[in-house]
Amino acid sequence: MEALRASSVQSLYIPNALHKTHLITKPNFINFQSSSILIPTSWSFSSRSFKVFTTSSSYTIISTENTDPKLLENETPDEKFDWYSSSWCPVIPVCDLDKRVPHGKKVLGLDIVVWWDKNDSSWKVFDDACPHRLAPLSDGRIDKWGRLQCAYHGWCFNGSGDCKLIPQAAPDGPPVNTFKKACVAIYPSTVQHDILWFWPNTDPKYKDIIQKKKPPYLPELDDPSSAKLMGMKVDREGGKPLEMSVTKLDVNGFIGKADWGGSKFIAPFIYQNSINPVVGQRNESESTAGIKKERKIMSVGPVNWQKACFVPTKADAFVVGFRRWLRKYSGGQINWGGKFSEILPPTPPREQLMDRYWSHVVNCRSCNSAYKSLNAVEVILQIISIVSIGIVAATKQSVMSAAARTMVVLMAVVCFATSRWLAHFIYKNFHYHDYNHASR
Ligand code: FES
Repeated sequence: MEALRASSVQSLYIPNALHKTHLITKPNFINFQSSSILIPTSWSFSSRSFKVFTTSSSYTIISTENTDPKLLENETPDEKFDWYSSSWCPVIPVCDLDKRVPHGKKVLGLDIVVWWDKNDSSWKVFDDACPHRLAPLSDGRIDKWGRLQCAYHGWCFNGSGDCKLIPQAAPDGPPVNTFKKACVAIYPSTVQHDILWFWPNTDPKYKDIIQKKKPPYLPELDDPSSAKLMGMKVDREGGKPLEMSVTKLDVNGFIGKADWGGSKFIAPFIYQNSINPVVGQRNESESTAGIKKERKIMSVGPVNWQKACFVPTKADAFVVGFRRWLRKYSGGQINWGGKFSEILPPTPPREQLMDRYWSHVVNCRSCNSAYKSLNAVEVILQIISIVSIGIVAATKQSVMSAAARTMVVLMAVVCFATSRWLAHFIYKNFHYHDYNHASR
């Protein structure tokens, strides 16, 4: 449930926090998976001197060089971050994967299928397109030999991506299944911290990339004591000046120091907060506000971020640091491999935007089983209620005493009321939970 509370609107909303609705001690993964992207596709800064502007016509210019004296010294201005050959990309916690079926995911604009290769006892990540006629392999199945089988015409692939069977191929004909074009593109993958990672590039030269580079090691993820979620209401007006500064920024991310701890951005997927005291809480409302905010930034033009925003205090240092990294090393935007335009899709209705069921519960094994169990309890309570009333109605007064009848009726009422309360609880926690700052 904690994970559920922390999840429905995912990470990025960067520089303020990350991937979940609370500030937490654990590292966060910046989610570039399909529907939960809160990061705009294009950001930019307008000047190398990194100045901050007001929106008025006569700009007040404040240089952040005063607050981040080391910033420019550490930068490597001409490097570019390659989103598809620089970093391992987290896909999903393995506890949320079912070994019996293939799982379709979209990460960084890439359609991938994740499946368990029982012959190699490892998770595989393939391009989610059958080489035959491009049907999604995630719609297929794992056959009894442990091969990934396409649902459409039954082609079967082993864990190396080799085609092992084309049912339509004549037995005495050429071995077309051995042709290179019959193979599926395979991504390097590995498991670390019980999370599945993949290298978002199928070029064979990265086949053994794990020998040269491993996913970032995050000791906090292996330490249960640091898994505690933080949460408290924030008194906005009770805010105070924060000493925050970016001490190092390069193509690999940035390191930030703050009086409450610090932050580390490991480009491009991990944002890590080290928190000494509890500092606050995010919630869905803030996440939806983040989406609206990004839309406004896009409406003024991604290169005009500084003109639209006024960030004169050190409390914004990490936001500024991230925007700076994005501009300098990624051209101001995520590289979607040319798959998407910079135009943001229409904002869905609030109910859809803040829906928890499809954004989280179906993908989280623990929440999913809790959801099913609670639904079962709700049905059982209703059945008990109806059966109890039925017993009272069908039993003659001489058989059951008045006190017993009262008890059974009472039980029926309690069960019914509990089932109604449970239905509300399930809806509020697993489907949709609105949040209004004004009423808190
Ligand atoms: S599309 Fe996959 S076997 Fe035909």
